[in-house]
Amino acid sequence: MLNLRDGNQLPQIGFDTFKLKGAQGVNIIQQALKNGYRALDTAVNYENEGSVGKAIRCSSLQREEIFISSKLPGRHHKYKEAVEEIQESLYRTQLDYFDLYLIHWPNPLKDQYVEAWQALIDAQRFGLVRSIGVSNFLPEHLDRLKKETGILPVVNQIELHPYWSQQQQLKYDREHEIATQAWSPLGRANDVLQDPVIKEIAVQHKKTVPQIILRWETQLGVSVIPKSSSTLRQLQNLALFDFELSKAEVAKIIDLDQKNGRTNNQNPAVYQEF
Ligand SMILES: NC(=O)c1ccc[n+]([C@@H]2O[C@H](COP(=O)([O-])OP(=O)(O)OC[C@H]3O[C@@H](n4cnc5c(N)ncnc54)[C@H](OP(=O)(O)O)[C@@H]3O)[C@@H](O)[C@H]2O)c1
Repeated sequence: MLNLRDGNQLPQIGFDTFKLKGAQGVNIIQQALKNGYRALDTAVNYENEGSVGKAIRCSSLQREEIFISSKLPGRHHKYKEAVEEIQESLYRTQLDYFDLYLIHWPNPLKDQYVEAWQALIDAQRFGLVRSIGVSNFLPEHLDRLKKETGILPVVNQIELHPYWSQQQQLKYDREHEIATQAWSPLGRANDVLQDPVIKEIAVQHKKTVPQIILRWETQLGVSVIPKSSSTLRQLQNLALFDFELSKAEVAKIIDLDQKNGRTNNQNPAVYQEF
């Protein structure tokens, strides 16, 4: 668990639910809960908050045993719409509160994220959400939240994997007591899974390449939300805490960072998602 500045805790590993929809999605999310995941990440834009809620209700777990996060889409950054969207997210999941709610993207060209942030601050006051955070926020966006509302997020969910290791953003987040959570922690299972340096480290530890990558991220102090629809891979991705990478191995993987390492060229300074 990572301790958050607001006194709550963020699980170091969670299950991302993107693309898991309908009855098949419910089954896979339920399977992840059975396999031991205790944190689920969804978003309004994944159009599966209903499936997440259904999977939780079908499980034998109590609400307080599961950490659930969702995200506000760019089209509802206006204050009133943002508050309503958080309420609608709760109705869709049939939950009374979220453990964490994030602004999905800053959409700086539209420039309404400060208004959206004020809505999240108030939603936390009303008890709709326990912790509030952001996703894909750069230092310039975070500085502005602090300047205009006096309150910084406790979580920043960003793209992070060995080819895009985000050392500067991590430093900023640490200095401001913001926990970093990695999206696409396995680089969307692209060529990073064939990387010879990581493969060699995996052989040394008798682990798989994805396990080495996820362990590296948790050793950087980052929370990870890998997505997998396979039971075997779900279990493998959870089995991270019976070994440790050396400082030299952690540094070797940081060195794999690439200048254009983003998986989909989504630069938050200009990328727009509504
Ligand atoms: N906040 C944001 O703006 C944002 C943006 C993009 C994505 N995300 C979220 O981050 C989540 C994760 O990102 P992602 O799906 O892009 O990438 P990811 O978790 O890095 O990779 C998922 C892919 O890896 C495969 N995989 C998982 N575990 C594996 C293993 N042990 N061995 C081999 N392959 C494995 C999965 O296939 P199988 O399912 O077949 O196992 C899937 O194709 C997404 O679900 C998404 O919701 C957030």
